Amino acid sequence: MERPCLSRRRALLLPAAAAGVGGLAACAPEDEGFGTAAPLRADEGAISLDEVPENASTLVNFGGQQPFVLLVRGEGEDLTGYSGYCTHNGCALRQEETELDCPCHGSRFDASNGEVLVGPATTHLPEIAVVIEDGLVRREQ
Ligand code: FES
Repeated sequence: MERPCLSRRRALLLPAAAAGVGGLAACAPEDEGFGTAAPLRADEGAISLDEVPENASTLVNFGGQQPFVLLVRGEGEDLTGYSGYCTHNGCALRQEETELDCPCHGSRFDASNGEVLVGPATTHLPEIAVVIEDGLVRREQ
C-alpha cells in the first residue's frame, strides 16, 4: 500500500510524522503541490524542446534550488518561463489544466501568462529567463 505523501511544510510541523512514524512519508520536492500533472524532469538542467508541447503550458523540474518553472510554449521557439512558486508565500504550485493551484492557501494563477486569478496572492508569477540552445531548453544563468 502506498503511504500518503506529507508536504515538507507539514512535515516540519509534525516531526514524528516526518520521521515516518505513523505511516506518513516526507515528500520529495517534486511531490509537493503537483497533483494532476507531474512536471517534466530536465536532466542535467536541460530539456529537449521536442518534449515541451506546443501551444501549451508545462511545468518542468530543472533541478537545483527553486527547480520548478512553468514553460509556456506557442509555435516553434516561442517560449516564456514563469516561476512555479506561489507569490503569496512561496509554495510549489500544481498544474490543473489551464490553471496553477497553490495547495497552501488556495491562490490560483493563469497557466498561460502567470496572472493571479484568485488570491490571497496579489502578484503575478515572475518571468524566469530561459534559453534554447541546440534544441535544448535551459534556465538562463
Ligand atoms: S503560499 Fe500560495 S496562497 Fe499562500
